Amino acid sequence: MGTVRIAVSGVTGRMGQTIVRLVAGEAGVELVGGIAERPASGEEARRHGVECIVDAAGAAQLVAAADAIIDFSSPAGLDALLDAGDALAGRALVVGTTGLDDGLRARLDVAAERGPVFVASNFSIGVHVLGRLVTQAARLLDPESWDVEIVEAHHRDKADSPSGTALTLGHAVVAGRGGDLAGLRRDGRSGQGGVRPHGEVGFHAIRGGGVIGEHHIHFLGSRERIELTHVATDRALFAAGALVAARWCVGRRPGRYGMDDLVGTVAGAAAETRD
Ligand SMILES: NC(=O)c1ccc[n+]([C@@H]2O[C@H](COP(=O)([O-])OP(=O)(O)OC[C@H]3O[C@@H](n4cnc5c(N)ncnc54)[C@H](OP(=O)(O)O)[C@@H]3O)[C@@H](O)[C@H]2O)c1
Repeated sequence: MGTVRIAVSGVTGRMGQTIVRLVAGEAGVELVGGIAERPASGEEARRHGVECIVDAAGAAQLVAAADAIIDFSSPAGLDALLDAGDALAGRALVVGTTGLDDGLRARLDVAAERGPVFVASNFSIGVHVLGRLVTQAARLLDPESWDVEIVEAHHRDKADSPSGTALTLGHAVVAGRGGDLAGLRRDGRSGQGGVRPHGEVGFHAIRGGGVIGEHHIHFLGSRERIELTHVATDRALFAAGALVAARWCVGRRPGRYGMDDLVGTVAGAAAETRD
């Protein structure tokens, strides 16, 4: 495969800038530019590591010059990117943005009819494996005797809560136990008196400082407990995973893809991608 040309949506943000730094040190990938809320060129764009930054109005033109578009923006940013419609057809779209609603998921399904669309609320191989362990534990532990609480921590600027990863892990719990997360989800317990109902999945979000991302899944029995934990120690972890996904997607058939498709084929590669 030749050089993969990448456009970064959300290029001025924490994740966007991490991808820019990673691409700069990696062979076989190059940046064609970035997308952000405000356009920029010249010195201002170069300060962000790209030659040009376009806004939603300029996205279609930039996308047309890319093989893959990596989006770490916001739900509104992704919504605007999807307006590039025809230009996205046939190109790989890799989405890391979290907090997606049903409307956005439906738009991604439409985009996936015309090109490969890879969506992951967390690009870490470790978190993906954690999800599989959680499903296995949930399958083995009787919900009448074992309560599940998910506690996550992130930096003070994170927009959504609970995190997309916490929700994915919640889905991993119900994948093992059966049921529907929407009916079992309990966000926080302030003001909740009385006995904890069996089968609920509790979510608790901590926000502060510069925490990159921590997820703790507590399986609480009456005389013992199991805790499964993942701690991200470097934001480049997610950017590296997104780059691996972008390379993997280019040239693939249209459709929806995710970490399940990637892990096992290139599992080690994300960890090995240089910062
Ligand atoms: N999947 C994963 O592994 C993973 C890991 C970490 C984070 N995330 C998610 O990635 C997303 C970005 O995180 P971050 O920490 O990088 O956020 P951030 O620092 O706030 O950056 C957001 C970026 O998106 C752009 N943006 C926001 N709204 C936009 C809009 N309406 N139109 C165009 N561009 C828009 C911003 O542009 P301006 O600077 O012009 O405003 C900025 O470049 C979040 O949803 C986060 O939860 C996912």
